[in-house]
Amino acid sequence: MPARPQTIAGWLDWAVRAYARKKVSLGQVADNAHDEALYLLLRTLELPLESPRSVLRRKVTSEQAARVAEIFRRRLDERVPAAYLTREAFLGGHKFYVDERVIIPRSYFVELLPEIAELLEDTVRSPGCASRSAPARGVKRVVDVCTGSGCLAVLLAHQFPTAKVDAIELSPAAAAVARFNLAQHGLGDRVTLHRSDVFDAVKPARYDLILSNPPYVPTREMRDLPDEFRREPAMALDGGRDGLDIVRKLLRQARERLQPRGIVALEVGQARPALEKSFPELEPHWLHTQDGEDCVCLIPAARLKSWNG
Ligand SMILES: C[S@@+](CC[C@H](N)C(=O)[O-])C[C@H]1O[C@@H](n2cnc3c(N)ncnc32)[C@H](O)[C@@H]1O
Repeated sequence: MPARPQTIAGWLDWAVRAYARKKVSLGQVADNAHDEALYLLLRTLELPLESPRSVLRRKVTSEQAARVAEIFRRRLDERVPAAYLTREAFLGGHKFYVDERVIIPRSYFVELLPEIAELLEDTVRSPGCASRSAPARGVKRVVDVCTGSGCLAVLLAHQFPTAKVDAIELSPAAAAVARFNLAQHGLGDRVTLHRSDVFDAVKPARYDLILSNPPYVPTREMRDLPDEFRREPAMALDGGRDGLDIVRKLLRQARERLQPRGIVALEVGQARPALEKSFPELEPHWLHTQDGEDCVCLIPAARLKSWNG
């Protein structure tokens, strides 16, 4: 590297140009190089993330410059995702511990959960309970299948403060991270973590909401993923031949796991066309997302019951 930048702003300019030159892949922590590089700078220099812009004028000591150069070497040359360098990720204003044992949280459920909750609260009230005199049944039990870091189980616990929450994960390594995050969030007692292949090892129970952000990348596309994404656990991404192995199993098992008015909520990314082609009779209801990805769908229990899949 030629002469090192003298200020934080100088490092930020240098980093943004280096991200472009080295064609770094984004999308795990931020969707643009400026925001990700600024985040890494502030964390490496142990400055608050909400620092005022004036902090950019600060001079960087030679010891700090060495630390910053090393962090960007790992990010830009080794292609280590920023969240694995800092060991943290944010979702819905909550902070989660992450490392290479789990995928970095970036689910669309963070944006859609309030809408799903509203729909569900309306749905689970039986017609008789709609009158003011009869208490609403309410949402009593929800589950996050394929919980990874546990991030969505935590969001569910906050969204449904009186519901019992289950979280299911097959990888022992990921489950250990989920257990840590649940404890960090003070939810170790309220959220029950199960080590299970979808529902195989979970005692029979009926849920109002089965939510899942499962692996959905078709196996043949795994090797084309950018280096940063291939550093995430393959088990968190690889969804089998058509990307729907786990989805298929989950939908079949969900028939016996949902309350009569319950709902399955699934995030399937680019596997939406495959899902629509494979299960047209399920007529999933796709929710609109701010960036137009629209890859989260809802399927009611009644439709699953009459499905022969
Ligand atoms: C796409 S990640 C989602 C993690 C987390 N819910 C999130 O949104 O960040 C999928 C997770 O499913 C887990 N998984 C894969 N196959 C599974 C299975 N058959 N049963 C349960 N969990 C599974 C993976 O280990 C991974 O942690």
